[in-house]
Amino acid sequence: MKVTIIGGGGRVGSNAAFALQCAGIVREIALVDANAELASGEALDLLHGASLVGDQSIYATDIKGAANSDVICITAGLRRKPDESRLDLINRNVSLYKGVLDSLKGAGVKKECIFVVVSNPVDVLTRLNIEYLGWPAKQVIGLGTVLDTTRFRSLIAAAKNLPATQVDAIILGEHGDTMTPIWSTATVAGMPLIKMVAPPQQAEIFRKTQTSGAEVIKLKGGAGYAVGLSIAEVIHSIALDRKRILPVSSQLNGQYGIKTVCLSVPTVVGAAGVEAALEPELWPKEVAGIQASARALEETWGKIK
Ligand SMILES: NC(=O)c1ccc[n+]([C@@H]2O[C@H](COP(=O)([O-])OP(=O)(O)OC[C@H]3O[C@@H](n4cnc5c(N)ncnc54)[C@H](O)[C@@H]3O)[C@@H](O)[C@H]2O)c1
Repeated sequence: MKVTIIGGGGRVGSNAAFALQCAGIVREIALVDANAELASGEALDLLHGASLVGDQSIYATDIKGAANSDVICITAGLRRKPDESRLDLINRNVSLYKGVLDSLKGAGVKKECIFVVVSNPVDVLTRLNIEYLGWPAKQVIGLGTVLDTTRFRSLIAAAKNLPATQVDAIILGEHGDTMTPIWSTATVAGMPLIKMVAPPQQAEIFRKTQTSGAEVIKLKGGAGYAVGLSIAEVIHSIALDRKRILPVSSQLNGQYGIKTVCLSVPTVVGAAGVEAALEPELWPKEVAGIQASARALEETWGKIK
């Protein structure tokens, strides 16, 4: 399998490439970036470690080199300028993203190609990727709340001194202000977490999850390792047709009464991309949270240029 990362010279793209390299599952990792020198530097650094991890082909290329990819992961994005509004940043990222899609159209992408959308606002850009490119919705997967979910699990584990890999709890809805924690189904090793975490501590863990992105930006400039691992989790489920159920963003078709909007619900991810978007029974307030995300995302969609 060939994976091309557009924005691969940046922090998120290069960390995703490293996570893909460490796992040694995909055959080819190509990095494309507007800053071609940076992409070349990251590819070279990764290549230097190849003999210690796996027999993969890792290189930098231009947009034409993306044409024969099985998976195109887009992490190209801009950061907020001082005093810039959220909507202004959204509009700058939407036009950047359209530019990337235009150049991919020019390069010619395989019709089976699956897009993994990471750039923010990820739910809006996932929908844009489907509608602007006219790409089949099941072949466009947004990273959605995969990163928020691993943050949530890891923070629950740290707060309660539990093994992180045995904590099973999810965040659904928008990757943004209206994300919704799902406590109704949260477990550790099959035991309900709701009985072990008192409501004030639940609120505190969720608050930390929700503000994690901003905290990491403040401390080190931007998220890298955890988002890289999150991207690899999604790409490996495609590469190995694992059919893992992940909280990725996809275009909904009636789940919880939501249509057309892209957001995260538990989703089966396999070789064909989005294989099913599920609608498990949740507490009414959790469903209301997901529906509030849909309204917020629809409102943003209506405002973008
Ligand atoms: N969905 C998530 O969970 C999640 C998590 C973290 C970051 N992000 C988003 O990922 C994006 C990247 O973040 P980052 O920290 O890596 O930023 P970064 O500035 O380190 O990297 C962005 C890269 O994109 C490149 N780029 C810009 N325009 C391009 C174009 N037209 N074609 C190709 N490359 C282009 C830049 O040269 C840069 O190397 C941002 O939008 C950020 O908000 C998403």
